Amino acid sequence: MRALRYSIVLALLLVIVILSRCKKDTSDPDVSGTLWNGATPYTFKIPEGFPTPNIPADNPMTVEGIKLGRFLFYDPRLSKDSSMSCGSCHHPRFAFADETPSSKGIHGDQTRRNSMPLFNLAWQQNFFWDGRVTSLEDQALLPVTDQLELDNSWETVVKRLEADSVYPAMFKAAFGPDAITKENAAKAIAQFERSIVSAGSEMDKVVRLKTKTAFDDARARQGMEFFETPVPAGADCFHCHGVQSTAYIMGSLGVLQFSNNGLDKPEDRLIDRGREEVTGNPDDRALFKIPSLRNIALSRPYMHDGSIPDLDSIVEFYNSGGDTTGNTDILLRHPGLGLERNWTIEQKESLLAFLRSLTDYDYISNPDYQDPFDN
Ligand code: HEC
Ligand code: HEC
Repeated sequence: MRALRYSIVLALLLVIVILSRCKKDTSDPDVSGTLWNGATPYTFKIPEGFPTPNIPADNPMTVEGIKLGRFLFYDPRLSKDSSMSCGSCHHPRFAFADETPSSKGIHGDQTRRNSMPLFNLAWQQNFFWDGRVTSLEDQALLPVTDQLELDNSWETVVKRLEADSVYPAMFKAAFGPDAITKENAAKAIAQFERSIVSAGSEMDKVVRLKTKTAFDDARARQGMEFFETPVPAGADCFHCHGVQSTAYIMGSLGVLQFSNNGLDKPEDRLIDRGREEVTGNPDDRALFKIPSLRNIALSRPYMHDGSIPDLDSIVEFYNSGGDTTGNTDILLRHPGLGLERNWTIEQKESLLAFLRSLTDYDYISNPDYQDPFDN
């Protein structure tokens, strides 16, 4: 009897194995693994006028995934000595950037570049100043093992999470049983990052939503016109940091994602080659991701190397035209105009007023984005 029962069980197991292998062989290679459907789908509120966000088919946003991602983002146990989290260099108060020119990791060593603000990432295609990563899931794996940042191993992180009192249940709710893996941790962090949206600045209210009839500071309207007018009459910023149809991003988009805005002197371009480090193409030397200007008043210091301390200095930098040698973008060279643009004080002040109107206070104070360990 017992032998018969065993052989039935064995035969059944064999059938299951064969069936599951067949399924694997015929499945669509683009849809990776089996998706856990026990989590609650997240209703992504896409702001009016924003296009469809880029959400990978194998990582749909869920309420449980975003919650888990938020805990991981702010959890110092991701770092070797449990002293720093993603949130240490990406703090909501500074539009998820930090205050130092080049961020410091757990050993106090400086990273190579200035921390980047985080918002509207679901609409972006390239990450880091040189765009070396094209998926938020891939990006989220890197800071943990980067020796200059969190200097840890994912094995250690996974062990710590498994031993924790709350994470096993959170991972299970988001991704199903046996779900504590680095890939799922990265997926959760990416979901949380995609949920961080900024669309409520004064500029949005006046220009995009028209729920407000005028800027509080009247100079901001003139500043926007100046920003959107080509040289020689205007400041000509819109080619790279678009306002109107691309207001959701105000930075890198479509064909114009990387540019050399004349910040670096020729010798600096050899220290940080920017986009060239990714493509190997010398034409890409010192090209950097064109950053969004949303919330710009919050995320100083500026530029990939944090070398510009404040907005006044930004305006002075563009007024002087920067370094026009090498592959500085043609849009900034303005042949025949010389280096100095000689803006008037009124023009400079209007530009500053416009840049300040891009701050979104709803976004920085949104309780859903704050550190869940802060009580
Ligand atoms: C030690 C400070 C530090 C820590 C910790 C850190 N970051 Fe960053 N982050 C940076 C810096 C600096 C850059 C820009 C690096 C570059 O361009 O090479 C950056 C860039 C990014 C970007 C690209 C944004 C864009 O617009 O292209 C994302 C996304 C990001 N970090 C997410 C994270 C996540 C998630 C974590 C935790 C797993 C994390 N960071 C931990 C400093 C840090
Ligand atoms: C040809 C494209 C181009 C034009 C035109 C341009 N920018 Fe930029 N801007 C960039 C790039 C690229 C960077 C990043 C450069 C770097 O880090 O080396 C940048 C950086 C900035 C930053 C710093 C952002 C940050 O997060 O650190 C501000 C502010 C800024 N630009 C404002 C302006 C203003 C104001 C104008 C018009 C006067 C303007 N830009 C015109 C390409 C451009």
